[in-house]
Amino acid sequence: MVKSRVIPLVSKSIPKVGLFSSDPWSRRAKGLEEAFRTLGEEVIQVIPWKVSRWGTTDKHEILQDGIDLSRLELLLVLDIGANDIGTFFNRVGLLSALTEMGVRLVNSVSSILLMRNKAETMRKLISAGLPVPKTLITESIDDAASFVKLHFPCVLKPLVGFGGYGVQLIERDFDLENINDYLKFHSQMFGKGAYLLQEYIKSPGYDIRALVLDGKVITSMRRVGGEGITTNIHSGGVPQKNTLDVTNLSIRAANSVKGHIVGVDIIPDEEGNLWVLEANATPGWYGLQQVTDFDISARIAQSLAETF
Ligand SMILES: Nc1ncnc2c1ncn2[C@@H]1O[C@H](COP(=O)(O)OP(=O)(O)OP(=O)(O)O)[C@@H](O)[C@H]1O
Ligand SMILES: [Mg+2]
Repeated sequence: MVKSRVIPLVSKSIPKVGLFSSDPWSRRAKGLEEAFRTLGEEVIQVIPWKVSRWGTTDKHEILQDGIDLSRLELLLVLDIGANDIGTFFNRVGLLSALTEMGVRLVNSVSSILLMRNKAETMRKLISAGLPVPKTLITESIDDAASFVKLHFPCVLKPLVGFGGYGVQLIERDFDLENINDYLKFHSQMFGKGAYLLQEYIKSPGYDIRALVLDGKVITSMRRVGGEGITTNIHSGGVPQKNTLDVTNLSIRAANSVKGHIVGVDIIPDEEGNLWVLEANATPGWYGLQQVTDFDISARIAQSLAETF
């Protein structure tokens, strides 16, 4: 006789909002949780490794602690946080399934995957007529080496990355002379088989991060300093008030990747031209909050709660 497994009963009251994050204790997750609670909204931290997906011939369910997550109204994705292919597909699969089961995702799965991939983001930015630095994406070490020889000094970065991790300026003659070894090492450490090479935009020492929410720039900052050429807050960049108007570029960038909440990176060159580097689907706002005179978590919660 086939012993059937007991599937836990769905009993608990269903919150409206879920916050999907591999780090539910982060400032961002806690700040949003509190902001939604202040608005009187029931909110749950959806923690990928606590989610169970059950399937039997007559039933498919996605549960966390007995709560049927398909009954959420809104799921805000704070990060996918998956470095291994297994967890990556499990989490993207969960988010895709919940979307099909009627949960509204911010940002949508397609938008998140697009923004995670710098090549696809670049394609969308170009299709929106936005200024992007000359860029080559290739798996060929020879083509990568040729780009470096032609555009030296230039920037090498992982196709999928964040926090400035693995973003490097190739500027030393030694590296140029040993470029294949340099590229091989970078690929093992960061690129994982794909090379993204970009012309180096010599900036006046800062770039700009703009936060777009529902088609509007709600705040922005200059980022100064940081490791190497990167200015990310993660890599030691310091936030300062931004005086440059990046509204038009930022909104067009966010729309081009169909993002509802987007962190847009823009870098000025020494002539004052602005270049769009990328769009982030799960932006943080720790740095932005330091130069913004309203509570960003509360603004985001308010804006999303108005859509219920
Ligand atoms: N082509 C370039 N020319 C000059 N500086 C650059 C260039 N590309 C990147 N940088 C610098 O490196 C930083 C990180 O690059 P980028 O935003 O592409 O990577 P990231 O790791 O995905 O960052 P994020 O955390 O924003 O997702 C930029 O904010 C900028 O300061
Ligand atoms: Mg960036």
